[in-house]
Amino acid sequence: MKPVSNGFEKKILVTGGAGFIGSNFVLHALAKGDNTVVNLDNLTYAGNPMSLEPARHNPRHIFIKGDIADRELVRAILEEHQPWAVVNFAAESHVDRSISSPESFLTTNVLGTLHLLEQIRDYWRQIPEKAGARFRFLHVSTDEVYGSLGHEDEPFHEKTPYDPRSPYSASKAASDHLVNAFRHTYGLPSIITNCSNNYGPRQFPEKLIPLLILNGLEGKPLPIYGNGSNVRDWLYVNDHCAALHLLMEQAEPGENYNLGGACEKTNMEVAEAVCAMMDDLCLQSPYRPHKSLLTFVKDRPGHDQRYAINISKINRAFGWKPKETFETGLEKTIKWYLENSSWIDSVKTGKYRDWISQHYGWK
Ligand code: NAD
Ligand code: TYD
Repeated sequence: MKPVSNGFEKKILVTGGAGFIGSNFVLHALAKGDNTVVNLDNLTYAGNPMSLEPARHNPRHIFIKGDIADRELVRAILEEHQPWAVVNFAAESHVDRSISSPESFLTTNVLGTLHLLEQIRDYWRQIPEKAGARFRFLHVSTDEVYGSLGHEDEPFHEKTPYDPRSPYSASKAASDHLVNAFRHTYGLPSIITNCSNNYGPRQFPEKLIPLLILNGLEGKPLPIYGNGSNVRDWLYVNDHCAALHLLMEQAEPGENYNLGGACEKTNMEVAEAVCAMMDDLCLQSPYRPHKSLLTFVKDRPGHDQRYAINISKINRAFGWKPKETFETGLEKTIKWYLENSSWIDSVKTGKYRDWISQHYGWK
């Protein structure tokens, strides 16, 4: 189904579009479609305007600094721009931060989502019927809401019961429930996606893969929690963005989709792959072999053992599957960080340094 021609089809609102996945999605949407992208982000430590540099002179990108919880601002944006879709990435997203300081996760992921939903519901109710029927709210969520799998368990599917186990996943589960509640109670045409771990360009280096790359470049320890046996499923970010773009345009309201890379790896396998690729790409590095930098550190409390995702629903419905293998995606990712040292400098603020020294006990 293509957007109907009713004057509402050319603009989308993206929230959290200066973060990792959001910025990649904004760039993807500008490149792949003719929508104007209105981008609302309040630029927390994880939001970085430099991630949007390729869109700086694009007249189809409108950046607005602000909070999804700011009802008046969101109402004004919706009234002025009349988007036919809203894609919500805005969130606190780092599990370790949610363990040491959960409140902001509740504030943004739960209350922020609620305030956003209320404004969107009110906007959707008063637009013309044809535009209302076409409208979509796409809520971007995580596989972590399903909890933790044992090694022999079947991968998560769309009907797996929610069983969140960290403050982060609990707050995302709550936001998903609110979206479903707005769907059932008010009829809001929403879609929820639950995706596995992403990696790729523009990811804040508190997350595993960019942390390994940046520490490896500087010869710093590469921290592996516990014994490195925890398993994650890895999806290259552009594959995620392609799936979201497809679902925004074609999915029926009320559906939820699991997204993943069909690429389960232990953390040790990931770290070794990053080290080997860096050895190949950084031939002059004094830190080769990078594997010698691997350092086991104290485990994360309540560390989920394994995530795995069954992607057959989106595959059957739309033929989507990841294009990148872990090897091709990782090579693109490491090359991007090697070629974007000014982006790296821009994220290494005092706040980032404070987090690293506080969390890992390093200077
Ligand atoms: P991120 O932390 O890199 O970016 C979050 C963005 O949201 C930042 O730009 C931040 O400034 C913005 N933001 C935070 N609070 C806001 C608020 N109150 N109002 C407006 N903007 C706000 O996160 P990410 O990794 O890009 O994740 C995006 C979404 O995808 C999240 O909802 C996350 O739960 C989900 N997700 C992430 C992954 C992953 O591996 N990174 C996997 C599955 C799902
Ligand atoms: P992370 O990137 O924080 O994503 P998530 O916790 O949402 O899955 O972590 C990915 C995996 O890597 C997770 O099992 C925790 C582990 N990890 C480490 O071993 N060392 C680290 O320094 C970090 C940040 C994560």
